[in-house]
Amino acid sequence: MKELNSLLSEKGQTHILQGFDDLSAEAQTAFVNEIENIDWETVALWKHPEDLSGKGQVEPIEGLSLKDIEARREEYFALGAEAIRQGKVACVLLAGGQGTRLGSDAPKGAYDIGITHPVYIFEMQIKNLLSVCNACKAHIPLFIMTSDKNDGETRAFLEEHHYFGYPKEDIRFFRQEMAPSVDFTGKLFLEEKGRLALSPNGNGGWYSSLKRAGADRDFPAIEWYNVYGVDNVLQKSADPVFVGAVIASGMNSGAKVVRKTEPHEKVGVLCLENGQPSVIEYYELTEEMANLKAKDGTLAYSFGVILNYLLSAKRLEEIAQKRIPVHVVKKKIPYLNAQGEYVKPETENGYKFETLILDMIRLMGSCLPFEVVREKEFAPIKNKTGVDSVESARLLLEQNGVKL
Ligand code: UTP
Repeated sequence: MKELNSLLSEKGQTHILQGFDDLSAEAQTAFVNEIENIDWETVALWKHPEDLSGKGQVEPIEGLSLKDIEARREEYFALGAEAIRQGKVACVLLAGGQGTRLGSDAPKGAYDIGITHPVYIFEMQIKNLLSVCNACKAHIPLFIMTSDKNDGETRAFLEEHHYFGYPKEDIRFFRQEMAPSVDFTGKLFLEEKGRLALSPNGNGGWYSSLKRAGADRDFPAIEWYNVYGVDNVLQKSADPVFVGAVIASGMNSGAKVVRKTEPHEKVGVLCLENGQPSVIEYYELTEEMANLKAKDGTLAYSFGVILNYLLSAKRLEEIAQKRIPVHVVKKKIPYLNAQGEYVKPETENGYKFETLILDMIRLMGSCLPFEVVREKEFAPIKNKTGVDSVESARLLLEQNGVKL
């Protein structure tokens, strides 16, 4: 205990021992264990966030346009469908996020976007994937990443809905890791006495978490992971044409992209950085780059990523030990205050530490941008109203013939 005290006072974090003496011996041991697992190097980043702005030499990247894809659609489909039939393609549904902007405590996938009858986000995701299984007459392993915050609820929800018709034996759940959170002065937040306010550590750790859990153990044929976000209700996962195009390209990865609608649209852009594929954020594009035109008059940096990547399992294995940057993100973080009250803040009150899958793209070595029609494949639900919201997604679903 003496050692723990001196460690915490050295780190300026003794406040987290608030109420420690009132805890049962068991709870005390669990808390000490939690403290011993804190990655202090990451926590220290709140003060000096890794400089993510210093970009290397950035250039536009070549990709497949809608026209290019159309010209070889049948060939790509055949190649992709064959790989899927051989069990080479698995899906990874990233569902460990907290959806704080949506403001619901339930797993985002359990959100009902229906109007006259329930239509759940998970339901849309699974229906789309089932249509590929049926078209290819194949089973596709589906890995669902959850976090400590929503694992139980996610499993219970899907079981209750009979996995929306997906074969249960093809589904594996795995949990991502958690990271501590701090206020704007770097003080660790408590969730309750004797428990840190931990939150999911971003979607960049999906591969190490999947491997640690051994979720892929029963599927030795996997050569490709199609990784995507839960909140795009028009998501086309395991798309055979996309899979076939990436295989035909010989590249280590592919990214579904939409054309930006205007130079400053707030989407990450796929480009080359020092010759490697890289996703850079909209705010990292200079004015000149944002407006730069290609020979055909379109925007040179126009490939907006939609969080749907196909990644080579072999390459992932090779880069498994490499570190990707930790992002220090301002969020609304519920916490226990010094008076022992649980506070749910209305505005951002601290930092979380996250790694992002988009930072893996650079390590993949090569990446094929694969253009898709925005109105058919991109309906993200991030907010309650306005841009990328339940409202905008409903409109897009209806345009695509989904009855809500
Ligand atoms: P977002 O960046 O939109 O985060 O996640 P979020 O947690 O869902 O929502 P906000 O920012 O709190 O409002 C993009 C995708 O990555 C997954 C999410 O579930 C979503 O599919 N994700 C995000 C994880 O799986 N784990 C994480 O730690 C973060």
